[in-house]
Amino acid sequence: MKKILIAGGAGYIGSICSEYMLNLGYEVTVLDGLFTGHRDAVDLRAEFVHADLADREKIFDICRKGEFDAVMHFAAFSLVGESMNVPSKYFRNNLCNAINLADAAVETGVKAFVFSSTAATFGIPETMPISESTAQKPINPYGESKLCFEKVLHWYSQIHGLKYAALRYFNAAGASELHGEDHRPESHLIPIILQTLRGKRDKLMIFGDDYDTPDGSCIRDYIHILDLAQAHEKALYAPESGCYNLGTGNGLSVKEIISAAEEVTGKKVNFEVAPRRAGDPPRLIACSELARKKLNWQPRHESAHDIIESAWKWHLKFPDGYEK
Ligand code: UFG
Repeated sequence: MKKILIAGGAGYIGSICSEYMLNLGYEVTVLDGLFTGHRDAVDLRAEFVHADLADREKIFDICRKGEFDAVMHFAAFSLVGESMNVPSKYFRNNLCNAINLADAAVETGVKAFVFSSTAATFGIPETMPISESTAQKPINPYGESKLCFEKVLHWYSQIHGLKYAALRYFNAAGASELHGEDHRPESHLIPIILQTLRGKRDKLMIFGDDYDTPDGSCIRDYIHILDLAQAHEKALYAPESGCYNLGTGNGLSVKEIISAAEEVTGKKVNFEVAPRRAGDPPRLIACSELARKKLNWQPRHESAHDIIESAWKWHLKFPDGYEK
């Protein structure tokens, strides 16, 4: 494997995976429509192609010319709330447009296809931690669109022999030295806490403290973005196609994340308890044994302290994110 196409390489996870792959000596081409990504997030060493996955001819053309060994697909919309209001946007992009990329990969003989899937494909699971055999019952169009594309890949592997890995991220967080999280608008917990600490927001709203959890706030499995990047590289060499859950196996509540951020920064977070946010499962924790075994994945930054510290450093270095 040498030449890698990274669709969505201008987004949060895609930009950091691009950087990680470039550091390992791969040749990276980033394809991005810049709908939510940032041109400045594209690593300077990567070739950049501005293209929309909806443009099937252009995607085929890029793949023919690039002769890629592998495709990593991060180019999706990912706001759960928005998906409940505009499902069409999610099914068109995350499913139909993704099929253009998968078809081009098949036609051009790509040897591995790595897909950004999500814990949202599980909905509200009946058992915890969530393993690959846990039933997938999404509760929003975002999760459903990702699950549909997992199924497309399954059938493409059966019928066309396309080797794939669907990596189901739990809560991606943290930063590398160069790249970090800059969503507009921002809806994720850790960047919102850090913005509050930097005075960019008045306060953090804790969405519900009456859940059936030890401190009443929701529990999530926060996984360092560089550990996710490592899993993508390992997935290129998986012996066979498969789906893998990626988390640390440690659940942390919103309140525990606030305490960890206060410890890292030495500052107090101004917060207020607000009503529950619609569609938030109380607890999501991954079992990632399969990835450890089959992909030889070895996460290295499992503490919340490490994750938040890396994000904090990035926030201080780039106070306006990717905005010039
Ligand atoms: N939260 C707050 N206040 C905020 C923001 C978040 O209390 O201002 C809470 C949420 O209620 C949740 C936790 O912090 O309990 C984490 O919320 P995030 O928005 O950071 O992340 P989610 O767990 O909602 O979402 C993540 C991914 C999604 C994916 C989902 C799977 O970002 O893409 O996990 O369930 F769909």
